[in-house]
Parts: sequence; C-alpha cells; structure tokens
Amino acid sequence: MDVPRRRLGSSQGRGALLHAVAHIELNAIDLAADMIARFTLHPALRESDRKRFAADWTSVCDDEARHFLMLADRLEALGLSYGDYPAHNGLWEAAHSTRDNFPARVAIAPLVLEARGLDVTPNMINRLNGAGDHKSAQMLQVIYDEEIGHVATGARWFKYLAAQQADSAESYFHELVRTHFKGQIKSPFNEKARTLAGLARTYYEPLSVN
Ligand SMILES: [Fe+2]
Ligand SMILES: [Fe+2]
Repeated sequence: MDVPRRRLGSSQGRGALLHAVAHIELNAIDLAADMIARFTLHPALRESDRKRFAADWTSVCDDEARHFLMLADRLEALGLSYGDYPAHNGLWEAAHSTRDNFPARVAIAPLVLEARGLDVTPNMINRLNGAGDHKSAQMLQVIYDEEIGHVATGARWFKYLAAQQADSAESYFHELVRTHFKGQIKSPFNEKARTLAGLARTYYEPLSVN
C-alpha cells in the first residue's frame, strides 16, 4: 500500500501519485473478486453464512471498481491513462502467497494492506489540497471513507474465523501475519480510523517496527 513520496506541485507528480493509487484500486478489485471465488465455499464458513460472505465482498468489489474508474477518469483529465507508469506487484504477491490459507488472506489483504491505506491516505489528501488539486483530494477522501468499511468487513470476518481457534483473535492474527506477510508493519498508525473499523491496537501494535 506504499506510495512513494512525490512532488505534487507539478501535474506530472500528481499524475504519478494518482496512477499509483489507481494501480492499488485495480488490484483491490481482483483481491475482492478472488476472495469471493476462492473462499465462499470454504469449510470454515457455515452454510448459512456463505451468502452474507459473498455479498460483503461483492460490495467491496463494487466500491473498488468505482474507485479505479474515478481515478482513471481523473488521470485522463490530466492527460494520462492507466498503464503510463510502471507499477509494482506487491499486492498480488501477497494474494498469491495466501492463496491456500483463508484466515491468512483475511488477515493480510484487508487488515494489513488496506489498513495501511488508512494510515497514509490523510497525508496524501493534505498534500493534494496543499498543491491546489482539490478534485483529486476529494476523490481520495471518498476512497478513504469507504476503505474504513472494507477494513471493517475484513475485521468482522477475521473475528468469525478466529473464533474457531483456541488462541485469542489477536494472537492468531499475529501468528498468521508473522508467517505469511513478508513486509513490515509500519507505524505511525491511524488509530482513529483503525478503531472505527474494529481493529484494536492489540492487533497491529505488537507487530510494528519503528
Ligand atoms: Fe479502494
Ligand atoms: Fe478497499
């Protein structure tokens, strides 16, 4: 979820930032669709909960598609299009490495990667506003508000899966992230947004490197 720091005074700098976010959103569409296709029939879900699981991630997928299209339109208005810049494959690598582990996927995709988005987006919004690009800032604000809901969806389903384990939800989370996530959990955290999403400090703070 990391977007390299760029100078936002030029439209090129803003274009590169928006391109990086558009790339994240495109991956997020795939991640939500993969969640539905790969795990809706997983035995850890009770029969009566499958429909709700699929509906939750379909709603996330719909949001992500809207986020991507919004940014693609904005890129176009700046004379750019998606694909103009190189992009990293980190999100999809995280998806690939958790393809056989349902709880690890729920721990890492929404609760590590999307939660990281909540930490870094307010600063991007401030910087875009500071550079006078209020239109792009408004788009990131819409995305930010809806991403809190995605992390909340992840937290709800993670707790559902963790309730089937002997360990506490937090220690199960720590174990899964330590085993399956190769990156670092970086502070500072947006504690307010994370708490709103149902992700308490006890989940992420013990994993953090400073
Ligand atoms: Fe999104
Ligand atoms: Fe999302």
